[in-house]
Amino acid sequence: MKRPIAELIGTGRYLPDKVLSNADLEKMVDTSDQWILDRTGIRERRVASAEETLACMGKVACEQALESAGVDVADVDVLLTATASPDRLLPSQACDIQATLGAVNAAAFDVIAACSGFIYGLTVAEGMVSSGQAKNILVVGAERLTAITNYKDRATCILLGDGVGATLVRPARNGTRGILSSYLKTDGRLANLLYRPGGGSVHPPSEEMLADGSYFLTMAGRETFKHAVRSMSDACDQAMARAGLSGDDIDLLIPHQANLRIIEATAKHMGMPLDKVYVNIDRYGNTSAASIPIALDECVREGRVTEGTTILMVAFGGGLTWGAVVVRW
Ligand code: COA
Repeated sequence: MKRPIAELIGTGRYLPDKVLSNADLEKMVDTSDQWILDRTGIRERRVASAEETLACMGKVACEQALESAGVDVADVDVLLTATASPDRLLPSQACDIQATLGAVNAAAFDVIAACSGFIYGLTVAEGMVSSGQAKNILVVGAERLTAITNYKDRATCILLGDGVGATLVRPARNGTRGILSSYLKTDGRLANLLYRPGGGSVHPPSEEMLADGSYFLTMAGRETFKHAVRSMSDACDQAMARAGLSGDDIDLLIPHQANLRIIEATAKHMGMPLDKVYVNIDRYGNTSAASIPIALDECVREGRVTEGTTILMVAFGGGLTWGAVVVRW
């Protein structure tokens, strides 16, 4: 096993107060609480208000991460945001979080890899630390998916929610703590399984687009599900092999929260009992790039992650993208 180059320290999160329950959705589309629960494991999700921009939510999550890391905002030299639902298309979301946070000494940019964005972001951060480019990197997963959700499409609107999670990455202080391995993979040929058909420069926003739903996130659910199970398992295997670890060495699996059945299939593949798997999809639904950093923050604050805990984080999403990171806390 290689010596860790970068470690994670400090975490934070922000979840909007407003809850959208399955019962609320029953009044909006032809669905039922039981169907949603049985097929996805989701009971409710959070919805941001007009004031709860990603810039505002990101500021709170980053402040918590910095406070728990004991790092001053002036010492942040990179702020990296993973998002698929930015407040605006230009500048990057990271620029707007940088401004609200007052991280004046940070270079800020976005990493776009849909639901895998946080895993991609951690890997970019590790590379920047190893090259000596940066010493304190805020990696933020931030999503306001309800803004790009089609509430006429029952197959997607039941899944998605809003939230932000953040962590700080810095040079590893000793030979044991930190990122032990990372694995990233993409198959752009499968992009149309999970994408937004319109709203970009090829099909600029239009009235028709809002009416026919092509402005919003669109997904081939059943196909995506199959790829998700396969890819999450592949990413776990590859990251574990690179770390030289086996399933028994992992104390906690933090999977992207897309569907409880996908999470259970991944745990089964890894031979991991469910009590070693963190699940909060029942409360937040799928928050894309934010799901893993939100879960990580909950695990740290609940004491499920302490010094020495070995964590496998794995994600899958639009692109298609997938990846995993093994971290010793
Ligand atoms: N309520 C009730 N019925 C619904 C429904 C809803 N919200 N959404 C779909 N259905 C219906 C379908 O119309 C279909 O009806 P039919 O058999 O009469 O045609 C039936 O339920 C089964 O649809 P299917 O799409 O096969 O369901 P599923 O078991 O695959 O579950 C998802 C649908 C979306 C929950 C599931 O495919 C999924 O989770 N996919 C992956 C999602 C994901 O991970 N996305 C993000 C990756 S980061």
